[in-house]
Amino acid sequence: MSTHNVWTHKGTFLLAAIGSAVGLGNLWRFPYLTGENGGGAFILVYALTIFAVGIPILIAETMLGRASRRSPIMGMRFLTRTHGTYRAWESIGWLGAASAFLILSFYSVIAGWAIHYTWQMLTGTLVGADAEAIGAGFDALLASPGLLTFYHSLFIIASGLIVGMGIHKGIENGLRILMPALFAILLVVLFYGIANGDFAAAAGFLFTFNLGDLSLEGWLQAMGQSFFTLSLGMGAIMAYGAYMPSDASLSRTAFAVAVIDTAVATVAGLAIFSLVFGAGLDAAAGPGLMFVTLPLAFAEMPFGGLVGGVFFILVLGAAISSSISLIEPVAAFLVERFDLTRPQAVFAMVLASWALGLLTVVSFNTWAEGSLFHTLFGRSAFDFIELLTNIFMPLGGLLIALFAGWALTYSEVMKEMRTSETWFQVWRFLVRFVAPAAVAFVFLRSIPQVEGYLLPTVGALIIVGAFAVGRTYPGKGRQER
Ligand code: TRP
Repeated sequence: MSTHNVWTHKGTFLLAAIGSAVGLGNLWRFPYLTGENGGGAFILVYALTIFAVGIPILIAETMLGRASRRSPIMGMRFLTRTHGTYRAWESIGWLGAASAFLILSFYSVIAGWAIHYTWQMLTGTLVGADAEAIGAGFDALLASPGLLTFYHSLFIIASGLIVGMGIHKGIENGLRILMPALFAILLVVLFYGIANGDFAAAAGFLFTFNLGDLSLEGWLQAMGQSFFTLSLGMGAIMAYGAYMPSDASLSRTAFAVAVIDTAVATVAGLAIFSLVFGAGLDAAAGPGLMFVTLPLAFAEMPFGGLVGGVFFILVLGAAISSSISLIEPVAAFLVERFDLTRPQAVFAMVLASWALGLLTVVSFNTWAEGSLFHTLFGRSAFDFIELLTNIFMPLGGLLIALFAGWALTYSEVMKEMRTSETWFQVWRFLVRFVAPAAVAFVFLRSIPQVEGYLLPTVGALIIVGAFAVGRTYPGKGRQER
């Protein structure tokens, strides 16, 4: 374990972190949540949490990974020992593993929709179709549990194969082409939206801030989204940080990731809402938003089938580079902790997530509104899982901020950050006080509004349970001190 690999190239962490950050969160989830929450106010809370909370925690999380050079759970175990702090901090790792597993389950189902649309684009099925036909096609996709499960399986198997075979080299080179290409094709869609849609309405919708418009659960969703889009608060970045060379700059990398990630989301949002308002579609259409607006642009555009096909392939690439970062920390832990081989560990993680993903599949059809599940819990299983992740990620981030802010010593932090005294002080103030206060503020505002006492109870049970497991099975890392 002490011979943990280090990436040879400084830029690799940046690339891997961008690959993890930029994904369905930017292209699918950001526009859909913004639309459901009425636009600007949501974006204001999202942007504030990215910059005041997200960036400092991004630095903290990378730091914990690099300082421990282990997978998140083992890394936190190591750090709590070397610092003589409570073992309860290990719950950061456990909570992270739980979030990764939950996120991957629905992430893969949604990425499956992109497989469907890649196919539709390349076969020219939607050429010339109008909004109504495209909407009907999407509804038909959602109505079919079999088709959704098929695509979900394809995507999760592909992600598992990549992590299982450990082919990070290929991914690195792939990302260097994929990310700029994705951005370029998004700009094409944006220009199409400006020319043929209603860009002014989109800009007005996204950048008119009126906090009063935002529902209490909207606050939680906005904060959750800022963690989701940066891949924060669950160990993915910690796992990557463990491979980061000691001399790469933490702060500069964190800023670069946040800025690029936000730029992609902004362009995607502007493009999608220009089309939404231009075609008189519903901004609050929900999770299908991207899949009923973008195909419309491709249906009308010259060479739309080809452009759309390439677009959805790039979306899939971005989604895979994110999903591997969801599998990696859990797999690395299973390998370190239970002596599984890498393929076995990946298989276990992926199989469990795949099975849980079936709940998301049926959320759009047999268990949709009107079904027993929906009536009992007041929302679909998919909404429920998303809600849990909206709580788990900021909670994990909060613990990471507190640990890095209070448990690590000045010299340890400086050894990792190598920065000016002033920026150190600013950063430490942010992780010690601002980030925890912001997370606590949003939690206290929102959570009591959500499902009464049910969710806090479930959340607390999971944390206590994870902690108990951690105590009961002390790892073999014990000899390491
Ligand atoms: N950030 C990715 C996206 O925006 C999703 C993702 C990948 C993620 N790894 C993560 C989210 C870890 C939370 C935690 O699509």
